[in-house]
Amino acid sequence: METRILKIDAPDDEKIKLVGEILREGGLAAIPTETVYGLAGNALRGECAKRIFEAKGRPSDNPLIVHISSFDEWAPLVKEIPETAKALADAFWPGPLTIILPKSDLVPDEVSGKLPTVAVRMPGNEIARAIIDSAGVPLAAPSANLSGKPSPTSAKHVIDDMNGKIDVIVDSGECTVGVESTVISLAVNPPRLLRPGGITPEMLTSVLGEIEIDDAVFNKLPEGAEAASPGMKYKHYAPAAQVVLIKSSLTEFVGYVEKNKSDGTVALCFEGEEKGLTVPCLTYGRKNDPSSQAKQIFDALRRLDEIKAEKVFARLPEKDGVGLAVFNRLIRAAGFNVIEL
Ligand code: TXA
Ligand code: MG
Repeated sequence: METRILKIDAPDDEKIKLVGEILREGGLAAIPTETVYGLAGNALRGECAKRIFEAKGRPSDNPLIVHISSFDEWAPLVKEIPETAKALADAFWPGPLTIILPKSDLVPDEVSGKLPTVAVRMPGNEIARAIIDSAGVPLAAPSANLSGKPSPTSAKHVIDDMNGKIDVIVDSGECTVGVESTVISLAVNPPRLLRPGGITPEMLTSVLGEIEIDDAVFNKLPEGAEAASPGMKYKHYAPAAQVVLIKSSLTEFVGYVEKNKSDGTVALCFEGEEKGLTVPCLTYGRKNDPSSQAKQIFDALRRLDEIKAEKVFARLPEKDGVGLAVFNRLIRAAGFNVIEL
């Protein structure tokens, strides 16, 4: 099929009407959000979710996040909105936070992956909210990458993965956060962080008090274990190359790479650290600036494929703040392969 590419830079652009119409009629549109680009379809129609899974090549037991543009759209999607959920939404919506609650019958099984719960988020990106408004229905939207590939943070990434597979791609430039939303489940007690993102654990505890961090955030799930968040059990964010994370000082890192390099070796480090390395280097942000790392990590992982890297030695990010999200994505890209020097 032919995919239309629409450049939209403001929430009052006339072209948003067209995108809304396509979505209302059951079409699929890749839309910008502040986190990553999403592959959106009508969240109230099971067959739209099926088309999304098909376009991504995604297993259909992996549930989709439902995106809303106003608080009124939330209540019909869930059994009830507890005070804790309301407090979280008041604090962080619109923004990069996804809240899981028991679902209502309005949410099709295809969207929830047959789970009794639904994940909902109100994106901070104004163009995203204008598109949801224009569609007039909540939108189911996973990240707009092919399943297993790094999430897309620019329209170019989306075009690389989705051109010819969906009706329209909205190009609004680069995503400001760069990693997917924080996912927290309030369907369990205490609340459980399932995926770290732009809203940090510290920000969540400031509203909720105690939270638990799911083991899958840091560790590989044991073979056959049930994932609280089904997305955690799939190989994720991985470039074609073998990625090894190196926990060490910069000097030790440089020494290790130089000693163990071969043809096709690439170093993935922080800006300004290329000196002393004789292999090709890609960077992802600045060392003590997790926001800059979050913004660039997925682009860096995609570029590793473009330069046909075969083996990648990567610097390990700190786990502070949004750095936890960067660590979580990178450790998956590395298949949990970490060497401590
Ligand atoms: O920032 C984001 O959240 C982006 C943008 C487009 O909004 N979306 C996104 O969706 O990352 P996706 O489908 O790529 O990731 C959703 C994650 C998956 O790991 C999925 O398993 C989990 O959320 N999830 C969704 N619904 C769930 C539920 N009811 N229970 C547990 N996990 C759920
Ligand atoms: Mg995804």
